[in-house]
Amino acid sequence: MVKRYAYSPLIDTGAVVRELPVSAGSPAPFTLENERFTLKMDETTRVYGLGETVRGVNKRGWIYESWCTDETFHSEEKRSLYGAHNFILVSGEVTFGAFFDLPGRITFDLGYTDSDLICITPERFSLDLYLITGDSLKDIVAQFRRLIGKSYLPPRWAFGFGQSRWGYVKEEDIRRCIDAYQKAHIPLDMLYLDIDYMDSFKDFTVNTERFPDLKAFAAEMKERGIRLIPIIDAAVKQEEGYPIYEEGRQKRYFCQDRDGRDFVVGVWPGKSLLPDFLNPEAARWFGSRYKALTDLGIEGFWNDMNEPALFYSEQGLHNAFSELKELDGKNLDIWSYFRTRNLMVNLQNSDEDYKLFYHQTPRGRFSHYDLHNLYGYHMTKSAYDALCELRDEPSLLFSRASYIGAHRYGGIWTGDNHTWWSHILLSLQQMPGLNMCGFLFSGSDIGGFAGNCTRDLLIRWMSFAVFTPLMRNHSAAGTRSQEAFAFGDTEVFRHIIELRYRLIPYLYGEFVKAVEDDAMFFRPLVFDYEEDAIAATVEDQLMVGDSLMIAPIYRQNADARHVYLPEAMTQVRMHQVDISTEELNKGWHYISVPLGDVVFFSRKPFPLAKAAENTAALDWDDVAYIG
Ligand code: GLC
Repeated sequence: MVKRYAYSPLIDTGAVVRELPVSAGSPAPFTLENERFTLKMDETTRVYGLGETVRGVNKRGWIYESWCTDETFHSEEKRSLYGAHNFILVSGEVTFGAFFDLPGRITFDLGYTDSDLICITPERFSLDLYLITGDSLKDIVAQFRRLIGKSYLPPRWAFGFGQSRWGYVKEEDIRRCIDAYQKAHIPLDMLYLDIDYMDSFKDFTVNTERFPDLKAFAAEMKERGIRLIPIIDAAVKQEEGYPIYEEGRQKRYFCQDRDGRDFVVGVWPGKSLLPDFLNPEAARWFGSRYKALTDLGIEGFWNDMNEPALFYSEQGLHNAFSELKELDGKNLDIWSYFRTRNLMVNLQNSDEDYKLFYHQTPRGRFSHYDLHNLYGYHMTKSAYDALCELRDEPSLLFSRASYIGAHRYGGIWTGDNHTWWSHILLSLQQMPGLNMCGFLFSGSDIGGFAGNCTRDLLIRWMSFAVFTPLMRNHSAAGTRSQEAFAFGDTEVFRHIIELRYRLIPYLYGEFVKAVEDDAMFFRPLVFDYEEDAIAATVEDQLMVGDSLMIAPIYRQNADARHVYLPEAMTQVRMHQVDISTEELNKGWHYISVPLGDVVFFSRKPFPLAKAAENTAALDWDDVAYIG
């Protein structure tokens, strides 16, 4: 059962797709006092949800803040990442789900300040609250998902493997990369184009020195079974004569300051403007511009920097320089030194800037600050709506920033992670939270975005990412190469990626079922085995679809690990091209997983196809059932 409580919501965020009557009275089991929702926890209480956040599957013990943030260090002390996913699932003496639907900042103190207390504080007390009770954890999630509408279903080819890198600057770099993959017979379906393909980082342009004929190049790649997937950034370069800038300015489609002047921020291209995605006309306009690339044969996009990420605002920069001038030549003591240093550091993604510009919504003008968490969501929606009109086939689309509701229009990737072992585990732990909130098509930058990857890390990361719907290797400019051919011996990577392709009929089939049934593709064990006290404590294994369970290795030098089987299962081991099985009893096992082997578990038979070098060559019908 779902109950809605309304506390003067500022705006309809669009997250919820069902009309519900407003309930009167107190929002039990929460106590509402001083504009805060509190709930006592007993020692068995666990709190799931919150989508894309740091730390474990059970979120209890930490404090989170929903505020879409361009966060480059996903370390344990962070409170916000790129998404704002305000759904929690409390499991304990009382078990229920709660969705706090508001476009601004909200803090979830889940036993951080007081270890027995959940305390949820919206910064501005203006929201809809949905409380959901049900028969089981899965049932509560399904009811929530029905409330927020069906998840995005990408094209089948999007389940192939994709290679990306910020730093493939020209056609030749990409051709060389694809040649290396195909020479080594490593399956590949997508090659991502990062900002380097654009002319001076201008959206919907192509640098023709680097890519003289992108249409012909895309066609050539498609012939070879590879789709090119370009990035689109939120901010638009301020440059006279650049049509997107000129049109947007004339039609007043950019976010403006209080006095109606275009609000100038700094992003990759330098001075830029922010399309007002919350103005439906502006969103339609921006979306229609994807045509520049779909006309060249492009079938998918990734949308970035849409928290929105701001390096600075023109105003903020001016203020900082004025202060710096005053400090020039002074004897800086400890405090004035830090002040000086922070003048530049604090320019980025500053709350002060978010307060200085506005959106023209159908409900009137609002400060960006009050609607902050909806920006990326509406960029994704604008692209999705446009792509549905521009193309007859489904398109691949995923974004960095998001709010619940965006899950209907695209997937998300988890942003700028690191080449850290702990980030394999983080990625695994983020998946079920994302799935609860409707984001089924997701994955992390395999091998890590920032930092230098090593061969063993990449092998272990790939062995996990074989199971994530979005399987993409991506890295930052200036880092060491981490393609599947970058470490010399390609065999081991070929085997792992081939396994992915062999599993696609299963993964895609289970994904479609999860979309249709409003279910989770990835589930913590406790969701399937609620009565099993051990299952509830296992945070490094996941159920994948109906038949499989994974327990990846995520520690350096580990070649074995403990695995808990909540029932008797078949252990499936991929060793090079061989697949072998072994029946195992319920309980704990110590499983050897030498580097390069992939081991997972099945509780029901699942289909396994023959290996293929891309999804077009995959025979979906020629499968053998294993387990
Ligand atoms: C952001 C994105 C990253 C991308 C980079 C350059 O940091 O998160 O994936 O490579 O921008 O576009």
